[in-house]
Amino acid sequence: MFMADLKGKVALVTGASSGIGEATSKMLASHGVNLILCARRIDRLNNLATELKNKYSVDVCAVELDMSKKESIVNIVNNLSEKFRNIDILINNAGLALYKDAYSDAELGDSIQMIHVNCEGLITLTKIIMPILLKSDNSFIVNIGSVASDTPYAGGAVYCATKSFVEMFSDCIRIEVMHTPIRVSNIKPGLVDTEFSTVRFKGDKAKADSIYEGFEALLSDDIASNIEYVLTRPKHVQIASITTMATSQGSATLVHKK
Ligand SMILES: NC(=O)c1ccc[n+]([C@@H]2O[C@H](COP(=O)([O-])OP(=O)(O)OC[C@H]3O[C@@H](n4cnc5c(N)ncnc54)[C@H](OP(=O)(O)O)[C@@H]3O)[C@@H](O)[C@H]2O)c1
Repeated sequence: MFMADLKGKVALVTGASSGIGEATSKMLASHGVNLILCARRIDRLNNLATELKNKYSVDVCAVELDMSKKESIVNIVNNLSEKFRNIDILINNAGLALYKDAYSDAELGDSIQMIHVNCEGLITLTKIIMPILLKSDNSFIVNIGSVASDTPYAGGAVYCATKSFVEMFSDCIRIEVMHTPIRVSNIKPGLVDTEFSTVRFKGDKAKADSIYEGFEALLSDDIASNIEYVLTRPKHVQIASITTMATSQGSATLVHKK
């Protein structure tokens, strides 16, 4: 199968400290892509940067970035050293769900945090990076959406809405840049076994583990493979969207458990 060469490109990955973002960063480094790793947990990023530099001889920098804080995002490019400034690939992965209660029972602050990170942070960073992507002759915006944008469920009012936002934002931006070399993709995973549920249930590990019990959930590498596919297509091929679920998952809300 044809695979475009990504060697020497520069990618910025948000949420690189865990789960899908970490797996995607490893996949990109294995292709010789130089990386800007972003998240709040800088210790994790520094460890990952060291690992990837040693294993793949790529350039990697770790950037402490809070996607809920506009001032943290708008200065990101100015604080990068010259060799990382020509970004070709933006992976908008940082995101979270908080709570699975009815909206009326949930803390308003939790709902607003999801909107800050999943929506405002994503569009702010995209706005900052797009002029750079436009200078490349082959660039990508890869947004991590979710099957949560397809199916409403009780307890998902705000999370599902944020992922619908990501989907529509991706679909509109794709139209706006179709006269340019930028390709825009929305990746929509089903249940992936990451720290996502531990965050959602605020550290309640038993509750988080129960989500993945009784069936074989997706792994972060499965979604990194989706992203690898998107980035390695020939230049005339744009993958608009990929939906991937575990074999035992039928929809955002239906999972067959043993
Ligand atoms: N796991 C699933 O079942 C699933 C399904 C569909 C879609 N998704 C989506 O996939 C993406 C990645 O999630 P994951 O499953 O890999 O979960 P994860 O393991 O919890 O990773 C989430 C990442 O987002 C970062 N993040 C969260 N809040 C942030 C903030 N305020 N500023 C900067 N970074 C922040 C975290 O980094 P720090 O905490 O270090 O900042 C972490 O690296 C999310 O957009 C999620 O909505 C996940």
